[in-house]
Amino acid sequence: MQSFIMNNGLKIPAVGYGVFQMTSKEVLEHLPQALDAGYTHIDTANAYFNEVAVGQAIRSSGVARERLFVTSKLFPQSYPYKQCVKDIDETLARLGMDYVDLLLFHQPYGEYVEGWKAMEEAVRAGKVRSIGLSNFPMHKIQEILDVAEIRPAVLQVEINPYWNQHELKRQLAGTGIVFEGWYPLGHGDRALLEEPVFARLARKYGKTSAQIIMRWHLQEGNVVFPKTLNPRHMKDNLDIFDFALEDEEMAEINSLPQRPYYQVPDEPPAFVLTHNDYSRQA
Ligand SMILES: NC(=O)c1ccc[n+]([C@@H]2O[C@H](COP(=O)([O-])OP(=O)(O)OC[C@H]3O[C@@H](n4cnc5c(N)ncnc54)[C@H](OP(=O)(O)O)[C@@H]3O)[C@@H](O)[C@H]2O)c1
Repeated sequence: MQSFIMNNGLKIPAVGYGVFQMTSKEVLEHLPQALDAGYTHIDTANAYFNEVAVGQAIRSSGVARERLFVTSKLFPQSYPYKQCVKDIDETLARLGMDYVDLLLFHQPYGEYVEGWKAMEEAVRAGKVRSIGLSNFPMHKIQEILDVAEIRPAVLQVEINPYWNQHELKRQLAGTGIVFEGWYPLGHGDRALLEEPVFARLARKYGKTSAQIIMRWHLQEGNVVFPKTLNPRHMKDNLDIFDFALEDEEMAEINSLPQRPYYQVPDEPPAFVLTHNDYSRQA
């Protein structure tokens, strides 16, 4: 498995398995298949309501904890300093783990500047190895950079060939922040998967269109963790390390018209205010 190096010197596996919109039952069925297929990187969140199942599936797999890279994320209700200290411990308790490899602030609302101190303390206490942000726009990332003693190691935002984030990458050049892409395959959008450029390159390289997109992510330096319940797709999404797209092919993919699937609003949408009872796992 290829890794990228974060700005704290630690490695992050380039491809992982995301469990967004998976019930605990689905996690218990499919995460073991993903671990069997060779995944070592798992992306969950408080707001996915499936952390207990993620922890259970990992423990019963027999895979040693230190071989895995586990990410979770806190929602804005957890950002006020004291709440953040408590909710980091509760995240670890739900997962049944002594530490997570990466903890993110999931949404750019509320007291994220104050909460960042609690995130840094969790790193110093060994509860979290790396910390980062998700869905934050540049001006809010800058607010964190202005106060950070430990800089965000990762930024998780929407990235796919229809939204390549080149502008934000240019703005953050020099920070060493690794980009992670959500909706890496367009959340299963047929229009993306059936773009003629992917079908043509798939024929050329003997791969599927999804694998061409996965390879594009790798060469763009994006960490991705597609969600799939299909064991064939799990294997396919890891089978991208034996070929390389040429520069002109990368450029052709990067010339696709750009538009995000989801525009992160400036003000918190209603669902952000209601996701707070994590004792209730899906
Ligand atoms: N931070 C955030 O706000 C945020 C937001 C959204 C997502 N995420 C993270 O990003 C992860 C991925 O996002 P996502 O799950 O919504 O979107 P995605 O991975 O882009 O798309 C998932 C869809 O792609 C299909 N798929 C997967 N592999 C395929 C393959 N090889 N060939 C054809 N189809 C394939 C899956 O269907 P099958 O089951 O049939 O394979 C599923 O319908 C999430 O699980 C989560 O960890 C984070």
